Amino acid sequence: MKFFRRFKIIGTGSYLPEKVLTNFDLEKMVDTSDEWIRTRTGVEKRHIVRDDEATSDMVIEAAKEALKNAGLAASALGAIIVGTISPDTLFPSTGCWVQKGLNIPGIPAFDVSAACSGFLYALEAGSSVLSSIAKPILIAGADALSKITDWEDRGTCILMGDGAGVVIIAPTDEDRGFLSSILGADGSLGELLVQPAGGTRMPASHETVDKKLHTIQMKGNEVFKHAVRAMGDAAVAAIEQAGIDPEEIDLFIPHQANTRIIEATCRRARVPLDKTHITIGWHGNMSAGTIPVAFHDAISKGLVKRDDLVLFAAFGGGFTWGASVLRF
Ligand code: ACO
Repeated sequence: MKFFRRFKIIGTGSYLPEKVLTNFDLEKMVDTSDEWIRTRTGVEKRHIVRDDEATSDMVIEAAKEALKNAGLAASALGAIIVGTISPDTLFPSTGCWVQKGLNIPGIPAFDVSAACSGFLYALEAGSSVLSSIAKPILIAGADALSKITDWEDRGTCILMGDGAGVVIIAPTDEDRGFLSSILGADGSLGELLVQPAGGTRMPASHETVDKKLHTIQMKGNEVFKHAVRAMGDAAVAAIEQAGIDPEEIDLFIPHQANTRIIEATCRRARVPLDKTHITIGWHGNMSAGTIPVAFHDAISKGLVKRDDLVLFAAFGGGFTWGASVLRF
């Protein structure tokens, strides 16, 4: 096996907020039905943060679990990287708030903004800085999409949820880590999935608040078509670059945006559905949070064992996409 980049995953963790919002709850909020949401998306319920809870709070809880599983003190970490598009504040980064929460000043901490592909972008960044830092690195994917969702827009609110997942990677001489990693983006399609206001293009004003321009605006149909193509193509490229056959994949962990997108990606990449971990039913689309949460769930349930080959694939706003094959 030829390794693109070696690292060892030494711990994982996840956190989902306590409050649960079911499809039946949503029936009382917008003109929709449990049946429509389940058949069109696969989502049955989602977790929602408290008013006083932010993205870093979720990451800190997931980080504590990952550190415990790794048998590591927070002080052993060499860097913190958070994939998110719903940061606590535009600055400081969520990474810095996580560092404060873990009480480990001094080490580098930063965010990666790549929407639903955020975790794969963060993992790629983390694995490449590992060679210079040479200490365990905390990589998180986390989003509190409920705080940037228009709860009167049935086209988006039925999809979204909140949650965080953490993976700790460490340097290793063992044959494990990335066999391949593919990342891509097409900024010309950014308007199809965007939170228009709150940045320097459209700073907050009474008008932006009145027009709900601080919430996710999405052309669902268009996003769907691009997601199927880009996620499928990235998965095919990652399998090819790894020099393996699709049948050799032990478990596929896709971004969980819509079960129909996952099924179409499996067909395109020739990865069987029974080797695909689908968790969207109980948490919805948590953007950068879905892959690490599903990965931690798969490890906890014994669906991923040491030396297994795992395929990740994601697609999100930007547009951005990514796929990688790693040996656990
Ligand atoms: N309940 C009931 N009916 C609905 C709902 C709803 N919640 N939403 C839309 N409809 C209706 C539409 O009005 C339309 O009715 P019409 O035919 O009378 O006009 C009909 O259902 C079909 O609408 P479509 O938009 O064509 O439905 P589609 O099958 O495309 O499903 C969905 C919509 C679920 C949004 C799908 O397009 C999708 O999953 N897109 C990808 C979304 C995604 O992955 N986004 C990532 C966002 S997260 C991030 O990056 C931060």
